[in-house]
Amino acid sequence: MSQITRFGVSIENALLEKFDQLIFARSYKNRSEAIRDLIRNELVLQHWGDDEAESVGTITIIFDHHVRELTEMLTNVQHQFNEQIIAATHIHLDHHNCLEVIAVRGKTAAIRKISDKLISLRGVKHGKLVMTTTGKDV
Ligand code: NI
Repeated sequence: MSQITRFGVSIENALLEKFDQLIFARSYKNRSEAIRDLIRNELVLQHWGDDEAESVGTITIIFDHHVRELTEMLTNVQHQFNEQIIAATHIHLDHHNCLEVIAVRGKTAAIRKISDKLISLRGVKHGKLVMTTTGKDV
């Protein structure tokens, strides 16, 4: 672990009270870890803004596998981006609906492109890209 610096923060009582309520609701044990996570989140957000930066993420999609040619198109996109797609899990939710979670690693621009291509396909009912970090810089 790197060196730790302690610093004081001036904050209005009412704002601090709201912050404490928020972090308690989110199961933080103390303010320090909550503040560190807020800072890390901002750094990760900044990282995503850089198209060339190396990132990781997951794309979660819900789709109806009975929609004509959808399964084939989903597979085609995944083959097209095989360098970035590091894992995929398919779960048959019911007779019609499938859940797929696709783990991706690569440049942020490529990750966004893969996500947009998958989520915009006809028959994909809902999709969400969660971009995170390789963990190296936070
Ligand atoms: Ni299925």
